[in-house]
Amino acid sequence: MNKPLIVFAHPLGQKIIEKRLGRRFQYQIIKNEGELKALLPQASALVTFLSFKVDSALLSGAPHLKVVGNYAVGVDNIDLQECARRKIAVVNTPNVLTRATAELALSLLTAVARHTVASDAFCREGKFTGWKSDLFLGQELKGRHAVIVGQGRIGKEFGKILKALGLSVEFISRKESKATISRKIKRAHVLSLHLSYDPSNHHWLNSERIDSLRKDCIVINTSRGSAIDEGALVQALKTGKIFGAGLDVYEKEPQIHPELPQLSNVTLLPHLGSATEETRQAMAELVMDGVVAVLSGKQPWNQVKVKVR
Ligand code: DGY
Repeated sequence: MNKPLIVFAHPLGQKIIEKRLGRRFQYQIIKNEGELKALLPQASALVTFLSFKVDSALLSGAPHLKVVGNYAVGVDNIDLQECARRKIAVVNTPNVLTRATAELALSLLTAVARHTVASDAFCREGKFTGWKSDLFLGQELKGRHAVIVGQGRIGKEFGKILKALGLSVEFISRKESKATISRKIKRAHVLSLHLSYDPSNHHWLNSERIDSLRKDCIVINTSRGSAIDEGALVQALKTGKIFGAGLDVYEKEPQIHPELPQLSNVTLLPHLGSATEETRQAMAELVMDGVVAVLSGKQPWNQVKVKVR
């Protein structure tokens, strides 16, 4: 009998794959669309990553699929309802990337507050010709107030880090009323988004909310680009309505709004939230463990819970 086939939409590292799969499974790492189409009809599992769309058209070509393993904690790239209807389990990578993502949010925040990226460019361009008392003046973070949107693991971890730095921290949860949200965000010196994105929170930070922010507010986003109306944020940054922004994610990722790179009050990163050696290794192991568990008839702890509509 053929061994169950696991198709990888992204290479996770041969050693990890082989160690985790043992001899019970066969696997293929696809290089293009053609290979994906050819292999999906026999696949028992598909390992995906955050920009790989899993929709009903793709699933129709995979009649034997039992599990989708997402090499990310966010699962907005996957049609969860359709997977549930087809009895396909979805597993992801919670916990293991919490600290790395929270630390990256901190790195964005300090970069924006102290203009470190622009200052680095300034030095490299040979513009540092002498100390000046008003050169790249920034913000001290201690004593400021941070509002964290989302009370999941990453938001809570970032909150702990900020408290340790001497900021006061409050959270906005999913259940909060519009009035409470608007009262809280008006107070924020730092507004950091950590929501698990789905269409219900599309443009959570819209132009109306951006308009209500303090002039010295710094916006940080390490969740998903579509949680912010990027056009409205660009306007606010251009007109100095807010102090700055640190972005790891974009609305039309990997495209970045063409005006963002022109602005000096924004720091831009290429979706690096979980990008540390140890975290990426742990993510690979966790997603593989989840996939193997489902294919072995077990329910792994990292299986995404879906309320079928
Ligand atoms: C995730 O895993 O969803 C993160 O966005 C990766 O950085």
